[in-house]
Amino acid sequence: MGKTAWILGGGTGIGAALAKELVERGWTVAVSGRRPGPLQALAQSHGVRPYPLDVTDADATAGVARKVAADLGRIDLMVFSVATKAVTKTAVYDHETFQKVIDTNLLGAMRVIDPVVAQMRAQGGGEIALVASVAGYFGLPRSAAYSAGKAALIALAQTMKTELARDNISVRLVSPGFVRTEFTAKNNFPMPFLLEPEDAGRRIADGLLRSRRFEIAFPLRFVLMLKLVRMLPYPLFFAIMRRLLPKG
Ligand SMILES: NC(=O)c1ccc[n+]([C@@H]2O[C@H](COP(=O)([O-])OP(=O)(O)OC[C@H]3O[C@@H](n4cnc5c(N)ncnc54)[C@H](OP(=O)(O)O)[C@@H]3O)[C@@H](O)[C@H]2O)c1
Repeated sequence: MGKTAWILGGGTGIGAALAKELVERGWTVAVSGRRPGPLQALAQSHGVRPYPLDVTDADATAGVARKVAADLGRIDLMVFSVATKAVTKTAVYDHETFQKVIDTNLLGAMRVIDPVVAQMRAQGGGEIALVASVAGYFGLPRSAAYSAGKAALIALAQTMKTELARDNISVRLVSPGFVRTEFTAKNNFPMPFLLEPEDAGRRIADGLLRSRRFEIAFPLRFVLMLKLVRMLPYPLFFAIMRRLLPKG
């Protein structure tokens, strides 16, 4: 029997590229996002099943999780590739922006994980992949809410990996560098090692299907550089971070 996946944030960008990869590799794929348009377009071009959903709505999320499981028979893989990017201004920590980002990027994942774990326990196992970011490796200047939310998602994936193994639920962390999507289209700073979404989708599919690695992180050189920065003594670390602040 073919395998089934539910990709949240699967209508565009990295999620859509992964959806296409999985379809080409014989999977049945359900995709969710708020806008029906991109989901429908992907349904027509690649035969995915569209389930419009806003992950900030807990009841709707639980309802769609049940529907996807019923329609597909089971959920072998759930990928959370959702994020909103409310820009946080340098040294401004307003509650509303943080609430919006955390509500979607972190609590949105929680609203999906709870019913999906219940479904996977009932079906005897499964796999959960959370798309975080290298921006969660440490507190980045100019992206306080985004960076904090991604750091929390990394910690969550680590905890879940340990706790859910006994339920035969495998948990993966996806840590992309820069990828050319709607998300990065308005970035007005240099994006080193920028990848195309198709490349990212292929790397994630390969990592999920051909390896058992906990973290699927790419591109390797960028990831290694950032992991090195993460290990630096704080005076050196903050000297580098200060260089990322806008001039003036
Ligand atoms: N692009 C990069 O350089 C990069 C780097 C590292 C990590 N990432 C991560 O990769 C993931 C995918 O991002 P992307 O670059 O592919 O950008 P994207 O195309 O904007 O994907 C984000 C997806 O999230 C969905 N979404 C946003 N809010 C939602 C909500 N409340 N409920 C349901 N769906 C919602 C969007 O669809 P709707 O707007 O239709 O809801 C969209 O399909 C994100 O987690 C992002 O943080 C991206």
